[in-house]
Amino acid sequence: MPRLNKSEWAILAGLLFLSLVPCLGGLFRVIELIVGLEVMPENPRVRSAPVPVVIHLVGSIPYCILGILQFLPSLRRAYPKWHRMSGRFLVVAGMLAALSGLWMTHVYDFPVTLQGPLLYWVRFAVGFGMIGALCLGLSAVLKRRIEEHKAWMIRAYALGQGAGTQVITAIPWLIMVGEPSGLTRDILMTVSWVINLLIAEAVIRRSRKLVPAYRANSALSVF
Ligand code: HEM
Repeated sequence: MPRLNKSEWAILAGLLFLSLVPCLGGLFRVIELIVGLEVMPENPRVRSAPVPVVIHLVGSIPYCILGILQFLPSLRRAYPKWHRMSGRFLVVAGMLAALSGLWMTHVYDFPVTLQGPLLYWVRFAVGFGMIGALCLGLSAVLKRRIEEHKAWMIRAYALGQGAGTQVITAIPWLIMVGEPSGLTRDILMTVSWVINLLIAEAVIRRSRKLVPAYRANSALSVF
């Protein structure tokens, strides 16, 4: 088992923390749907059409949790085969999360307090953006463009992790003003995706600066 350095522990802890609420909430919802217990807040959309939400959670929970390991350089170097196998699985999981997210966005009958036009279109952009980033990341690694692959996979993950950041941006509002709804909620959720994308771009820039020029486009060196 390779030793993780300080920054890798920080990545692991930070991303686990970010995934905690959406993934636990999702896990409880899946258990609730399978066992028939009522533990989660009532969601009439899920009750009337559970299929897309089950697909969504079956894709998004492993994508968020297992995806973290893909971003730890020590693990990638120590277990290159694992990185490739898990990467293939995660592309499928991420696609399922994004496609089912788009499905629910369009088909679920949301009251305007939970999804106004802004959130509808932003979710569309995020869903298609995530699918596009996963395809570009996959295509880059097949052409052995490793830096490009890393950048697209970071962007895809940042879009997927919007659910985690949305919890963090909603908390101060919840404490100071009350539960956000309507346009406020749409804006807070949009801002969360923007924050994630800005962080992703900063991480990509920093990693490009750190990677020596000779490794910038060479295959396998990172693995
Ligand atoms: C990949 C990380 C993601 C995670 C962990 C996640 C998690 C969740 C969870 C826990 C729910 C609540 C289900 C329930 O009420 O039982 C949910 C619902 C939903 N998600 Fe995601 N999600 C992710 C990505 C996305 C993306 C990228 C989109 C947009 C395309 C999206 C769109 C939706 C929609 C529309 C709903 C239904 C909300 C409702 O009925 O109130 N999700 N997601």
